[in-house]
Amino acid sequence: MSQLIVTGGSILNGEINAPGAKNAALPILAATLLAKEPVCLNGCPKLGDVKNMIKLMQSLGCKVFWEGEALIVDSRSAQCHEMPDHLLKAIRSSIFLLGPMVARFKKAIATSPGGCDIGRRPIDLHIKALRSLGVVIDERHGTLYCDGENLRAATIHLDYPSVGATENAMMAAVAANGETIIQNAAREPEVVDLQEFLCKLGYHVQGAGSSEICVRPGCAPKSAKHTIMRDRIVAGTYLCGAAITGGDVCVRGIHKELLGSVLSKLHECGCEVETGRDYVRAIGPKRPQELKRVETLPYPGFPTDMQAQMFALCTVAEGTSVIVENVFENRFHHAAELSRMGGENSVNGSIAVIRGVKKLTGALVDAWDLRGGAALVLAALRAEGETIVRGAQIIDRGYEAIERDLNALGATIVRA
Ligand code: EPZ
Repeated sequence: MSQLIVTGGSILNGEINAPGAKNAALPILAATLLAKEPVCLNGCPKLGDVKNMIKLMQSLGCKVFWEGEALIVDSRSAQCHEMPDHLLKAIRSSIFLLGPMVARFKKAIATSPGGCDIGRRPIDLHIKALRSLGVVIDERHGTLYCDGENLRAATIHLDYPSVGATENAMMAAVAANGETIIQNAAREPEVVDLQEFLCKLGYHVQGAGSSEICVRPGCAPKSAKHTIMRDRIVAGTYLCGAAITGGDVCVRGIHKELLGSVLSKLHECGCEVETGRDYVRAIGPKRPQELKRVETLPYPGFPTDMQAQMFALCTVAEGTSVIVENVFENRFHHAAELSRMGGENSVNGSIAVIRGVKKLTGALVDAWDLRGGAALVLAALRAEGETIVRGAQIIDRGYEAIERDLNALGATIVRA
């Protein structure tokens, strides 16, 4: 278990480049199974979850290796095997392999990825979408046996705009004869990036970013070069750090469109927000104002992956804020940890009421999930004294080296 030792009283100032997006890289890595020629991925972040996905791909026989900063994936010799259980359970995104495996091998065997600390994480919408496409799925003792021999085009209606279920359906449907329509699709930018990649492989996918996506098989898949989009959540995390510490942070390589709802909340709490063609800058106030109401919703609503960071901001704001977590049923673990630092909040189901305090004090706290852990680091920057955040390896799942980035902006964080 590694930990981060954060010295309080830091103010974040400076410029930083947004890294490649974890939540775009993971489905795109799974989609490389659909390319029968080697693929070159640029801007792929070197994160824990990405490393585990690479191991899963290699367990299927894919050759995956770094060539400088580019990740090369050669899936030509991939075959359908039962993937190692410990890897499947290590990352939720192993479920993204179902769709491409069914499309490529006409069958797939996978363990249901199970929950994590933010919620039960069921996969019923994935299963329903694949069954709509004619995939026969037998669930036995937590393992899914999928038979895609009769894969067929269909109109799929998702009961909820699930990001993963949308992406799985897109990747399975490219091998179905005819036109598949995915209704009530997730509109996240990472879904658009996956669409772009699938089109580069020669498939016909359109409509991503809207609630209706159309997928048609394409010509023989060819090789492709793709640059992963930038990570809007990592960018939002560092901008939030400027708001919490009263600093001035400019994140390069990110477009303001990706952060719409986050920028409006940063503005609401008193930040000056400046945007350009490919950068976003936040200049924090001495002390942020409360946020009357933050409600997490599917894109373009406020992202659930920024909820914990906003919670940390509200913890030091002037006044009382309300946060409603509508997407995951158990994503407030950071509340108790922030209370250990002197934060005042009360959580009742999906609603958190946060009474801003003038002063936080350093404490020993635990990261329960990757965004909650990042939020604790941000709060510790403003706290008085030293904070030890345990579970740094959980934060590493979504941040390449959070201490490297924040120290470059003026923080003092040591990994132990
Ligand atoms: C993706 O998870 C992201 N992960 C999550 O990011 C993100 O929080 C989430 O989308 C929402 O934006 C990746 O892309 C790898 P969902 P995913 O399916 O696809 C319920 C991070 O911190 N649901 O949109 O799993 C589910 O329980 C991570 O980077 C079902 O009920 O999210 C949740 O309540 C955390 N049945 C809601 O839908 C299903 O079959 C949203 O889940 C699938 C989901």
